[in-house]
Amino acid sequence: MDRKLEPELMEDPEQVKAYAEADFSESHHYFVTQVCHDVGLDFSGKALDLGCGPGDISFRFARKFPKCRVDALDGSRAMLKYGENLIPNTLLKRVNFVHAKLPLPSPLESYDVIFSNSLLHHLPDPQVLWNTIKQCVREGGNITVMDLLRPVNEETAQKLVEKYANDESDILKHDFYHSLLAAFTLDEINFQLAMAELNFEVQQVSDRHVLIKGRMT
Ligand SMILES: C[S@@+](CC[C@H](N)C(=O)[O-])C[C@H]1O[C@@H](n2cnc3c(N)ncnc32)[C@H](O)[C@@H]1O
Repeated sequence: MDRKLEPELMEDPEQVKAYAEADFSESHHYFVTQVCHDVGLDFSGKALDLGCGPGDISFRFARKFPKCRVDALDGSRAMLKYGENLIPNTLLKRVNFVHAKLPLPSPLESYDVIFSNSLLHHLPDPQVLWNTIKQCVREGGNITVMDLLRPVNEETAQKLVEKYANDESDILKHDFYHSLLAAFTLDEINFQLAMAELNFEVQQVSDRHVLIKGRMT
C-alpha cells in the first residue's frame, strides 16, 4: 500500500482535545524507558522533544531526571496550549515549550539528548526529521525516535484501530487510522537513514511500532 499523507500539524481543537485526553500511558512509558536506558542514571543535561504534542513524554522524562531541562517543541499552538495547561507546577522551571515548525531555519542549540515520538509520519519529507536531529544534537548525544509502521493494506490498518482504539473517541480512531496510512515501512526508514548517513539501529518493537536509536558520532 502506498503512503497517504495526513495533515502535518495537529491544530483542530477537537482533534487536539481527543489526543491530549487519550490514554497513551503504555506506549509513552515504554518509549521513555527506552530513552532513559541510553542516557544513564544521573543525566543532568539538556533534552529536545521534537513534535511534543501536549507534552506527556517531556513531563515523564523530566520527572525521571530532576536536574535535566527539556525543550518541548511543536508546530501546533493548540497542542502547546494544552501542554501549558497540563504541565505540573514542579516542572515549570525545567520544561520549556517551544513553538516552531520543522525544518528550523537554524539550530536552537546543541542538545545532549533528542527524542521524538509519532512525529515522523506527519512529515511530508522525512529527511526534515533526520536533518533537524543532525542540526541540533551534540557529538556523542543520544537519539531515540519511535513511530508507527505502515501496515500492508487498509484492512490491516482498520483491524489495528479496532484492536487498540476501540474504546477511544471517533476522532482519535480516525486520526489513528490515517496516521497508520501515513507511516513509513521498515525498508523506507532504513533507506532514509542511509540517505542521511545516520548509522542508527532500527527495530520493529510491536505490531505497529518501530524504534530507532543511535548516538551522534
Ligand atoms: C501524533 S502527535 C505526537 C505528540 C507526542 N510526541 C506524543 O507522542 O504524544 C504529532 C505532533 O507533531 C506535530 N508536528 C507535525 N509536523 C510538525 C512539524 N513539521 N514541526 C513541528 N511539529 C510538528 C503535530 O502538531 C503534533 O502535535
